[in-house]
Amino acid sequence: MEAEQFTVRLARPDDDQAIAALVVEGFMDQFRHVFGAKMDRAIKIMERWVCLEHASGGVRSLVVEGYADAEIAGSVGIRTEVSREDILARGLWRSLTRNLGILRAVWATMLLSYPTYSSVASEAYVERLVISPSFRRQGMARRLLAAAEDLARDAGKKTVGLHVTGNNLGALRLYEAEGYVEVSRQSSIIAAWFLDIREWLYLKKEL
Ligand SMILES: CC(C)(COP(=O)(O)OP(=O)(O)OC[C@H]1O[C@@H](n2cnc3c(N)ncnc32)[C@H](O)[C@@H]1OP(=O)(O)O)[C@@H](O)C(=O)NCCC(=O)NCCS
Repeated sequence: MEAEQFTVRLARPDDDQAIAALVVEGFMDQFRHVFGAKMDRAIKIMERWVCLEHASGGVRSLVVEGYADAEIAGSVGIRTEVSREDILARGLWRSLTRNLGILRAVWATMLLSYPTYSSVASEAYVERLVISPSFRRQGMARRLLAAAEDLARDAGKKTVGLHVTGNNLGALRLYEAEGYVEVSRQSSIIAAWFLDIREWLYLKKEL
């Protein structure tokens, strides 16, 4: 099936759990270090995070449906409005402590705080782009990215920014092919040591 034959639509509240499951699966290499032995709680925490982002983070999510409309094959979040960081941080902290206990919650908060991004009014920010492994290399990420850029244009944004880890060659190739250019890099000793991430590249595209 061609990517064009799959439906891309705005996420509904009842998609949050499926989005969370995709994100945990797609970023397992990083989340394994964040959640440790409590990996079973990761989807619950991520679901709460996605829900909070929709409610207070100025983020909308797009999904691409799989073979049936109940099946979500991929998703992306795009921030086009001001984020209520205080509400987000409080809600996430509550979910982390409830599910992981205070010590692991402190640890998770530290690791999840990378990469840092200061939002710019004229820029939309793309996050957690992920496609289920069995649907990859069919052009779905390219379609979701294009749909996210349309939302950014509709919101009057001039640029779209995102972060990608330096070793994620597949994603880097996708972004470069879609017109994103590197603006800067950031690294952290903690992330290099505990997440095995040497650097994040901040990429930007003019709309
Ligand atoms: C990165 C990811 C989103 C790509 O999704 P996808 O639907 O397979 O990507 P597409 O089919 O739209 O690929 C478009 C282009 O990107 C490049 N690309 C995508 N994945 C690639 C890979 N694994 N290796 C090399 N190039 C790749 C190719 O140029 C591809 O075009 P082609 O297939 O015609 O050669 C997917 O692999 C994924 O979910 N990975 C885990 C989560 C993640 O890393 N997300 C990115 C966070 S910044």
